[in-house]
Amino acid sequence: MDHHKVYATLNSMLEQPRLQKVYQSVRDAFEAHGNVGHGWEHVRRVIVNAAWIGSEENADLDIVMPAIILHDIGFVTHPDQPKQHPEHGAAECHRFLDAWTEEQRVRIAQCILTHKAAYPGYAGLEPQSLEERVVCDADQLDKFGWIGVTQMIKVYVEYGIRGLERYKRHSGIVEGLRHLSKIRLYTETGKRIAAERSEPAHLVTARRLEEELSLSENWREAF
Ligand SMILES: [Fe+2]
Ligand SMILES: [Fe+2]
Repeated sequence: MDHHKVYATLNSMLEQPRLQKVYQSVRDAFEAHGNVGHGWEHVRRVIVNAAWIGSEENADLDIVMPAIILHDIGFVTHPDQPKQHPEHGAAECHRFLDAWTEEQRVRIAQCILTHKAAYPGYAGLEPQSLEERVVCDADQLDKFGWIGVTQMIKVYVEYGIRGLERYKRHSGIVEGLRHLSKIRLYTETGKRIAAERSEPAHLVTARRLEEELSLSENWREAF
């Protein structure tokens, strides 16, 4: 899709006062929070992905757009429980959504709850509705291509600073790259965009990194 068509979709959606208000509130919350990996920059990228995938898949953008804007709000509301951010986000999103109906709020919350799908370390709730699948793929596309590898390093810094051991080490990055190679996408548009972002190949990068690390990791101090 022509990038300008994606921008036109985004801009026309954001002309809606209710969506613009959510966008601005969530942006301000992320910018005040200052996360390294799960910051506003990530949210902004996946908002663009969601407009692209959602419009090509004919999803209901009145559900997809607020859901993608709010999908990582759990990192801001509960910074000490990053692995529970989908559950926290699904609970916390309602207070941003006064201008949506109860039925819509439930659908939006479900998109947030299932956005990690089967990614290791999470609840394993896979997206069911079209809108859930679009939100999931839009977020997961940020794990592909050169953005994917560099974003993973930023997330590892973020988690490492919080004291999560695996994320402090290069060997954790090898493991993370292997997880990336197992990501399942749920829409044809998501699969197509991911295929265009096939460089660098996650498994090749993991293997090369592991080979280079073996020099220092195989040495044992003899004292
Ligand atoms: Fe997330
Ligand atoms: Fe995300």
